[in-house]
Amino acid sequence: MLFRGWGESVNARWPDVATVLDHVGVGHLVVTRHALVKQVLTDPVTFRPDNALDAVTPIPVTALRILAGHRFRLPPTLANNSGASHPEIRGIVADALHPTRVAAQQPWLTALVRQRVARLTAALDTGETVDLYADLVADLPLLVLARLVELPDAPVAAVKEFARAALELFWAPLDADRQRALAAEVGSFHPVLREFAATGGGLAARLRAAGHSPDVVVGALFFLLVAGQETTSQFLTLLLHRLTGEPEVRAGLRTGEVAVADVVEEGLRLEPPIVTWRRVAAVDTTLGGTAVPTGTSIVAWLARAGRDPEVVAAPGEFRPGQRGSRRHLAFGAGAHRCVGAQLARMEAAVVVAEAAPLLDGVTVVRPPWCPDNLTFRMPDTFVIRRS
Ligand code: HEM
Repeated sequence: MLFRGWGESVNARWPDVATVLDHVGVGHLVVTRHALVKQVLTDPVTFRPDNALDAVTPIPVTALRILAGHRFRLPPTLANNSGASHPEIRGIVADALHPTRVAAQQPWLTALVRQRVARLTAALDTGETVDLYADLVADLPLLVLARLVELPDAPVAAVKEFARAALELFWAPLDADRQRALAAEVGSFHPVLREFAATGGGLAARLRAAGHSPDVVVGALFFLLVAGQETTSQFLTLLLHRLTGEPEVRAGLRTGEVAVADVVEEGLRLEPPIVTWRRVAAVDTTLGGTAVPTGTSIVAWLARAGRDPEVVAAPGEFRPGQRGSRRHLAFGAGAHRCVGAQLARMEAAVVVAEAAPLLDGVTVVRPPWCPDNLTFRMPDTFVIRRS
């Protein structure tokens, strides 16, 4: 299950907590129930976030040297920061992503998506295949993020490649050759990040003005460029794929009986792009009656918690607005809960509202394929054509 926490695995029978050995023999305590996952995420004293970005496949010295050659450094800033600097850094990022600033981007995004949907509809009408990942959603979150946090211009393809390489380097089961190749890719983007951090306006300038060191600014930008756009484009791909197989939901959207916001929440519950998130036990404790020694890696299975029958009426079914639908933990919980949740929801709502009609009468030529990864789904393409 560890590297494929969705599909058959997420629906199988599991104990509330279970120790699972990973590919290098390290044990992780996998937590499956909604209440226990929430308990872990909301208790930062017992379960610290320090290991959130640790490489699940230990990085060999040869790959570390490649990273060091690019002066790659990643001090804890956001997701893995249990220190005193976290609230202030988080506060600055949260200001940049404030709901009113997010709402102000909605008309621009709607116009862009509408334009793309019109072009794709025309392509489908002439019998062409269309890749909804590459041709519609892959770059949308990055384009919006760049406007919100005032990222200097960077080639979109380079940011996407860097972000996907980072998700693989830190969260995938890998051999040393692949780790070296990924270290070269992630490392070579680091000078670009340092330049952003040193000269960028917007968020980078506010972090600098608050007295944060260049490394901290780089760390915050690194996490945002990875978590703040790749997760959302993954989610949009998975959600559109799911909706292709949910004709009644699409019909409800058409007539207005089903609310777009409810579709987004049910999508987050059933198709979260982040399937697990880690914490580490800071003290000897117990969880669901199981002893948890200090230092244990806890894998909070977010995707599974969203399907807990104690919380949701019909856990496996896509029923927008059903009881418990909104209680998913796709954005985590507690002091580190996703600070971009509002932004991700806005983006998903725009895409669902504008692009769902595109799915009527189509055949899936190539469903999204997801590689082995502890945490991220990372779908690649999603190809459709008119039936
Ligand atoms: C569907 C899209 C997204 C999902 C499912 C998601 C999920 C998550 C999860 C599970 C966490 C860890 C929460 C915890 O430790 O309890 C997190 C943290 C975070 N996310 Fe997201 N995220 C998404 C989109 C975004 C976006 C669009 C941004 C910003 C542009 C963003 C920025 C962050 C940041 C900065 C953190 C760290 C917060 C902290 O440690 O204080 N995320 N996200």
